[in-house]
Amino acid sequence: MENLVTMKDLSVEQITTILKQAKAFREGAASTLKNQYTMANLFFEPSTRTKMSFEMAERKLQLNVLPFDSGFSSTLKGETLYDTVKVLEAVGVDALVIRHEQNNFFEELIGKTKVAIINGGDGTGNHPTQSLLDIFTIWEEFGTVENKIITIVGDIAHSRVARSNADALTRLGAKVQFVCPPEWQGEFKCVHDFDEVIESSDVIMLLRVQHERHEGNGNFSKEEYHQTYGLTVERERKMKSDAIIMHPAPFNRNVEIASELVECDRSRIFKQMQNGVVVRMAITEMILKGRE
Ligand code: CP
Repeated sequence: MENLVTMKDLSVEQITTILKQAKAFREGAASTLKNQYTMANLFFEPSTRTKMSFEMAERKLQLNVLPFDSGFSSTLKGETLYDTVKVLEAVGVDALVIRHEQNNFFEELIGKTKVAIINGGDGTGNHPTQSLLDIFTIWEEFGTVENKIITIVGDIAHSRVARSNADALTRLGAKVQFVCPPEWQGEFKCVHDFDEVIESSDVIMLLRVQHERHEGNGNFSKEEYHQTYGLTVERERKMKSDAIIMHPAPFNRNVEIASELVECDRSRIFKQMQNGVVVRMAITEMILKGRE
């Protein structure tokens, strides 16, 4: 694998290899990279989890990490993304993690630079590393993803997480279903009654209401959204005894999820963030090994 820009770049076998390697890193395995590689993380959109966990993963792999701050870069003088990547190639960077507001930003880069590109999230398009850490979290929880019922709830149309997970989880044999307001379903087939599916789900994966991509809060007040599509305390009580709650975060407390459920026993929200480090170590190592 030279780059990772969408989940379609990965076969089921490669996904399985990443899951196993992430588990090995969790259990203390050391990096087997032979060379000293240099990376940089180019975030043109806000991020806490993806940026910090990639930086942690890169340090744990003992890579050189060049700092990059988009707010103090020459992109502010009009330098394009393509030219910025060529600068980093020229100074000797091996791989870049890029988050960008433009869907499919990577199309202008792949095949035109020797630098490996890892997509840290493109607009409303893809978020493959989030998808892999979500899959890892489900796989570790249940020992398999196959035949698990994954219910993804919320702002489906604007969610790169929903798009990446729908593709990969289905290929791995999970049953993926969507719950959302009719106006937020995009190209997906969704049910609109959360209560219809709550009792049968193995995973309730909540999505952030992306206020920045809506005018106001769509057609809902926060309270209306919470009562209709949020995981309320009453709904959580109807979940199967071993079912888990996931959310890629950041979350809006008392909108997608009742505040008191964020750290409840069945919540894996902070576990997902912890898993992000070892999964991103496995992804980064796989890509850099391809250069040896
Ligand atoms: N889940 C996720 O991508 O979070 P950040 O936007 O903080 O990276």
